[in-house]
Amino acid sequence: YLHGICAMRMRLGARIPGISGRIVGGGDAPRGRWPWQVSIQYNGHHFCGGSLISAQWVVTAAHCFQYSYPQFIYRVILGEYQLFNPSPSRVASSVRQIIIHPNYSSQSADVALVQLTEPVRFTDEIRPICWLGSSDSSPDNDMCWVTGWGTTDSNVSLPSPKTLQEVQVQLIDFKACNTLYNIDPDPQIGRDPVKPNMICAGYAEGKKDSCQGDSGGPLACDHNGTWFLTGVVSWGDGCGKPNRPGVYIRTEAYGEWMWGHMQQHCLSLERT
Ligand code: ARG
Repeated sequence: YLHGICAMRMRLGARIPGISGRIVGGGDAPRGRWPWQVSIQYNGHHFCGGSLISAQWVVTAAHCFQYSYPQFIYRVILGEYQLFNPSPSRVASSVRQIIIHPNYSSQSADVALVQLTEPVRFTDEIRPICWLGSSDSSPDNDMCWVTGWGTTDSNVSLPSPKTLQEVQVQLIDFKACNTLYNIDPDPQIGRDPVKPNMICAGYAEGKKDSCQGDSGGPLACDHNGTWFLTGVVSWGDGCGKPNRPGVYIRTEAYGEWMWGHMQQHCLSLERT
């Protein structure tokens, strides 16, 4: 039985995903379908995605914060749809703290928690996604969705007004993914680059993928009508290339770490 950890369950309603036909190889998301998707910005510029997991916490990738700027220069934009055409549901939050996973090193444990300064109010366009604690079994559904405002191909930016993109991708476990990455291995990447705490998503033929600027964003899978955060966009070899699926942090492997920090925050609130 899959229970997972949910600040609010998001059921699949009338908006059942249809197969859309950019992200790489995807299409415009319907407004409000992915209410946990956030844009992390610096100076008004989007640089990474992220997922809302509770009223005050966002999960993203650690590499989004590779330059150690102070947290007050960042804004987390929630409830947004078109980056160049702010929607009425848009909320901009400042950041209280950024917690980088202690084992983060270039491509390993590429996960970070961002605490918003104040809890956000949930709306139809702003809702958290469920996530898996380490004792939960993974959803059996292997078709999932990745979303973001990243490039639509290596070095091809999303055209204005920058509508949130979605694409359906197939989960590929780390062993099968290494088999693909070991075909004509890139010398810079080497053999068996995918670690057990990562999961891939995409297709052997390529074409559908996340890309630059999608980093930190959600790989979401539905299980009996509830959406779960299965992965966090981390890295890839180019975008949408054959035998090079996108590589994601497997959130299940970091559930305890995430939960630990969120609880610690509650305890410190009780004390104050
Ligand atoms: N590292 C990239 C970023 O910072 C995301 C790469 C995802 N690549 C892929 N082929 N899925 O935005």
